[in-house]
Amino acid sequence: MKRVIAVANQKGGVGKTTTAVNLAASLAATKRKVLLVDSDPQGNATMGCGVDKGNLRYSMTEVLLGDCEIAAALLPVEPGGFAVVPGNQDLVAAEVQLMSKIGREVRLRNALRPMRGLYDVIIIDCPPALNLLTLNALVAADTVLVPMQCEYYALEGLSALMGTIEQIRGSVNPDLKLEGILRTMFDPRNNLSNEVSAQLIMHFGDKVFRTVIPRNVRLAEAPSFGKAAMFHDKDSRGALAYLALAGELIRRDEEGPSADGQEGRPAGDDEASMSGDDLPSPDHAG
Ligand SMILES: Nc1ncnc2c1ncn2[C@@H]1O[C@H](COP(=O)(O)OP(=O)(O)OP(=O)(O)O)[C@@H](O)[C@H]1O
Ligand SMILES: [Mg+2]
Repeated sequence: MKRVIAVANQKGGVGKTTTAVNLAASLAATKRKVLLVDSDPQGNATMGCGVDKGNLRYSMTEVLLGDCEIAAALLPVEPGGFAVVPGNQDLVAAEVQLMSKIGREVRLRNALRPMRGLYDVIIIDCPPALNLLTLNALVAADTVLVPMQCEYYALEGLSALMGTIEQIRGSVNPDLKLEGILRTMFDPRNNLSNEVSAQLIMHFGDKVFRTVIPRNVRLAEAPSFGKAAMFHDKDSRGALAYLALAGELIRRDEEGPSADGQEGRPAGDDEASMSGDDLPSPDHAG
């Protein structure tokens, strides 16, 4: 398994960072070499790895502005056994500065190029916006993993994201693929969640991960200890769910794109299923 995965959804608080950190730890636990890139000025992934975002020598800011090599900004994550390129609020100013720079949308792609040979998986945590930082991530990535909460407005936001992915595929990154849609903070007792979930599967078919991340307090607590959930409570449902997600990613990768179950597969090819144009409106979900 060799790839760069952007964890993106412009909607805030859907579980992007929780997914980025816990998936990084879970893949590292399978002995894969993993690099986590914090491309969000909130620096939540950085803090979630136990790195003090207020005390960084080099960070994503210098990497994007070309002021340091990415290798100089790498920090080891322990416990975890992976590496992180930290980020913090300086990224806000960096994004503004980037606007006027040449090749502003390929900065991260170029920076990551020497890392691709060194790591099996590179995971990029995106901010909750379709801004230049997210654009850099989507241009640098091979695939996009979209965490979402199965609630009323979720599908609406998803079509904007799919539109952006389509645009990027049509221009600067034609090979960009949808890694999958991940249902997060899932509560099976909630009828709306189940209905939105059914809509998702109807539209995206096997692009919806079978692994579902439950709402679990250990996942919410772990960042305050600067750890992935598996190092906070290894038997928690949250930690086990992210291990299962890592397993699903690896299995799908080994089996190849068409070997996964055909059930629930939408009509049309993958390309059609990327389009957000005909996503059901949220009204239909209720
Ligand atoms: N499965 C879960 N169960 C319980 N709490 C969760 C779960 N996933 C995430 N959380 C909590 O929900 C909040 C939002 O999660 P997270 O920070 O991962 O979302 P995000 O999409 O990265 O947010 P932002 O858009 O601000 O970057 C956090 O407090 C996190 O600890
Ligand atoms: Mg986040």
